[in-house]
Amino acid sequence: MPTIDIRAVTKRFGTTMALDDVSLTIPQGAFVALLGPSGCGKTTLLRLIAGFEEPTAGAIAFGDRVVADGRRLVPPEHRGVGMVFQSYALWPHMNVADNVAYPLRSARRPGAEIAEKVNATLDRVGLAGLGERMPDALSGGQRQRVALARALVQDSDIILCDEPLANLDAHLRATMISTFADLHRDTGRTFVYVTHDHAEALALATQVAVLDHGRIVQVGDPEDIYRAPATRAVARFIGRGALIEAEVTGEFADGRLPVKIGGADVAVRAVRAPANGRAMLLVRPEAIHPGGSVPITVESALYRGAAVEVAGTLPCGQRLVFDWPERVAPGAALACSVTDAWLLPEP
Ligand SMILES: Nc1ncnc2c1ncn2[C@@H]1O[C@H](COP(=O)(O)OP(=O)(O)O)[C@@H](O)[C@H]1O
Ligand SMILES: [Mg+2]
Repeated sequence: MPTIDIRAVTKRFGTTMALDDVSLTIPQGAFVALLGPSGCGKTTLLRLIAGFEEPTAGAIAFGDRVVADGRRLVPPEHRGVGMVFQSYALWPHMNVADNVAYPLRSARRPGAEIAEKVNATLDRVGLAGLGERMPDALSGGQRQRVALARALVQDSDIILCDEPLANLDAHLRATMISTFADLHRDTGRTFVYVTHDHAEALALATQVAVLDHGRIVQVGDPEDIYRAPATRAVARFIGRGALIEAEVTGEFADGRLPVKIGGADVAVRAVRAPANGRAMLLVRPEAIHPGGSVPITVESALYRGAAVEVAGTLPCGQRLVFDWPERVAPGAALACSVTDAWLLPEP
C-alpha cells in the first residue's frame, strides 16, 4: 500500500490558479481531510490524485510509482483508487448490485467473484439485502452508501471522497461519519476526504490539510489545527472562537507569553514573542468561565439547550464568544475568567 506524494503541484485553468505549489505527503493508511472554503482548490487536488486532471507543474507519486509528472499521466482506471462523489453519480438504470459491480465488470472479473464481493461490500456499508433496489427507490443516505460500496468493492488501496456528506441532513451526516470512521478502521485503506465542514474533518481525520486560495496553509492532527491554527484564516474557518488583540506584559518563555486580557493576567500559548509588542490571540469559547475579574458585557445571547451561547464585549470593546450556564439578557455585566488563548504566529 503506497504513500501518496504530492510534489510542488500547480494547476491552472486558463488564468485561474486553482492550486499553487502544493506539496503534501499522505502516509499509507492515513485518513487525510482536505479542508477549506468553497473554491480553495480541494476538488482540483482530489481530481489530480484520481487522474481526472493533469498537473500544470509538479508531480504525483504513489509510493515509488510516479502517476503524473511532465512526461507521464497514468489514467484513473490504472491508478487503483476508488472515488466517492458528492452527487453520488449512480447509474439510474442499474440496480444497486449492478452499480456496485460495475468496476469489477469493467475489470472483467469472474462472475462468482463479482457476486461474492458485491454482497460482502453491501453488507459492510449497511445495505445487505438491497441489491435489487433501483437508486430512485433509495434515500439520500442509502444512495451515498451505494456510491461508497462501489468505491470500496475493488480493493483499491486509496479511497478518494469529495464532500460525500454535503447533501445529507444533519442526522444522517452524523450516522455516515461513524460509517466512514468504521470503514477506515476496519479496512486500513488510505482515505483522502474533501470537506468544507470542519466538524467532519476533526471527527474523522488522522491529519487535516487546510487549503486557502489554492495553497496548503496548515497540516496537522485535528488537535493541532483546532488548538494552534497557523493563520487567522485557519482560526476563523475552524470551530468557534474570537480573535482579539492584547497587550504583551512580559517575556516569552517555555511556550508561554504573558498578556493582559480585560485587565487580567493570562499566560497564553505561543511559539514565539510577537514582533511588535501586540498579540493577536484566538480565544476559544471553552477558555472563558463564570467567576473572575474579567468584565464582559453581554451583546447577544442564544439559548442552545445545553448552554447559552453569548457574544459579549471586553471593556476595550473587543468581542468574545462563549457559553454560559444560564440565560442572560443583552446589557448584563458578567464577571469571567479567561484560562487559555493561542497567539497566532503570523506577523
Ligand atoms: N474545469 C475548470 N475550469 C475552470 N476553472 C476551474 C475548473 N475546475 C475548478 N476551477 C476553478 O478552480 C478553483 C478551485 O476550484 P475547486 O477545486 O473546485 O474548489 P473547491 O473544491 O475547494 O470548492 C475555483 O476558482 C474554480 O472556479
Ligand atoms: Mg469542491
